[in-house]
Formats: sequence, structure tokens, C-alpha cells
Amino acid sequence: MSYAHGTPPEGAAADWTIPQRWERYSAAEHALWDRLFDRQAKLLPARAAPEFLAGLDVLRLGDSGIPNFDALSERLMNATGWQVVAVPGLIPDDVFFEHLANRRFVAGNFIRTPEQLDYLQEPDVFHDVFGHVPLLANPVFADYMQAYGQGGQRANGLGAIQRLARLYWYTVEFGLIQSAEGLRIYGAGIVSSHGESIFALDDPSPNRVGFDLLRLMRTRYRIDDYQQSYFVIDSFEDLLRQTLETDFAPLYEQVAQLTDIAPADVLPEDRIYTRGTQAYALAKGVAG
Ligand code: PHE
Ligand code: FE
Repeated sequence: MSYAHGTPPEGAAADWTIPQRWERYSAAEHALWDRLFDRQAKLLPARAAPEFLAGLDVLRLGDSGIPNFDALSERLMNATGWQVVAVPGLIPDDVFFEHLANRRFVAGNFIRTPEQLDYLQEPDVFHDVFGHVPLLANPVFADYMQAYGQGGQRANGLGAIQRLARLYWYTVEFGLIQSAEGLRIYGAGIVSSHGESIFALDDPSPNRVGFDLLRLMRTRYRIDDYQQSYFVIDSFEDLLRQTLETDFAPLYEQVAQLTDIAPADVLPEDRIYTRGTQAYALAKGVAG
């Protein structure tokens, strides 16, 4: 999340938002969205959390073409009071938190190129909207995201943004959930990635470990490849309850006294679903 600094670029408002300019997308860009959507839509029914799949439906994200943020916001507003607003890309942490705290999700308005179908560094509209927005139609997850924004504003004052960012990473971006049908994916970084949608559930390489707040905040993460560990929540209610009921200030202090945990490490006290072989990471020559 630590993104940009300073003042908004030319053409952006003081809160860094810009017009989506939906009418400016080309036919090829809409077709690329459809291609990405269709590929994930085939894969996800057996893999994604039911709450995510319900959000796709309620928000009609299966309609052809890149969603118009105004129409999308109207549906989302009806469901949970959230909106989607466009930003030029990376924005400062405090601006990001302020938007979330006010139930506004910020999304990039550009779409990747066909060459970037499977990998890109900056989140585009497919990652941001397809990946993040469906769960915002779920009342419990919607409250979690707002609480996260408020928690971010507090963490900012406590110098603890990096620790809090790990919670975002391992839940909002790369979280797994225990559902009635077994493990499911819900993190936006997974559901918007064809490769990781399969890897995160099926590959023997990564660890899959029970969610633990303090443990998560000690765990470094990698931004350049599939995760080496995933954390499993019992339910969105449990995630919301735990994060709301916990005062993070003492937790941040505790984390500051403890060593970081490497992305691939498993601890004796971990609730292990799968102990990974790390074969994938090792083959790529990545150390834990
Ligand atoms: N309870 C957290 C705090 O005391 C705030 C928070 C809520 C953070 C939900 C993340 C998610 O700072
Ligand atoms: Fe994201």
C-alpha cells in the first residue's frame, strides 16, 4: 500500500480521485475485460468464497465490458452503502485510508495490455473491480474494509502502517476461508489471477495456516510472485469480530519487540492446514 506521496497529479481532485472516463475505453479494452472475466468466471464457482460469487451476481459484473463506476456504485450503494471511485494509480496511505473509512473503494481506471494478461505490477481496473468489489457487496466484509480504513488512520499516528499492511495483504489481497465446501479463495490478488486461483488451493508448494492476528503482523510478504504462505479465516464474521474487538496499539508494540517471520516459515504453534513443500519457490531459486 505505501504508494505515492505529495500532491495529486494534474487533473485529479484534492482527494486524488479522477473521472473514470468510461466513454474513452476502446472496443479492444472492453473485449480484454470480457476475456479476463470469462476465464475467471469458469474457474471460480468451485474455488471462490460463496460471498464473493454472490457479489459478482448482485453487482452484475458479468455484464459485457468494463463496468461503468457510476452504475456499479449505484448497485453497491444499494447493497452496502459503498461506492467505487477512480484514482490515477497509486495514492498516499492517508488518502487511501480516508476513502475506505468513508466507504469509498478506490480503483485504477486503466486496463492492462494483452501482453500483461497474467501478470502486471500496478493494479488495473480488472484487479481492482473484479478482485475487490464483489466482496464489498457483503455487509460483513463491507464493515471490515471500513474498519480497516479507520484502523489505518490510527496506525498512521502510531507509526504502524507496515504492520497493518500485512493484515491487508494476508486477508484482503491473499486470504483463504474455510467454507462448508472446504477451503476457498477470497483475496483479490488471488481471485483476479488465473494462475494463483489454482495455485493457492491446489499446489503442494505453499503453506496454508490458520489466521492469527499477531502472527500475520509479524510475517513479511512477497510482492513479485505467488505467496509462500496463505492464512485461512473461519468466516468473515470472525475476521470482523477479532479485528474490531482487538485494540491494535498494544499488538503493534508486541510486534515491534518480536522478530519478523519469513514468508515460507511455519511455527510450532501454527494451526496447519497444509505444510507446503515450497517446491515452486525453490525451483525459482527464492529463499524463504
Ligand atoms: N481494532 C483496530 C485498532 O484498534 C482497528 C482495525 C479494525 C484494524 C479492523 C483492521 C481491521 O486499531
Ligand atoms: Fe488489490
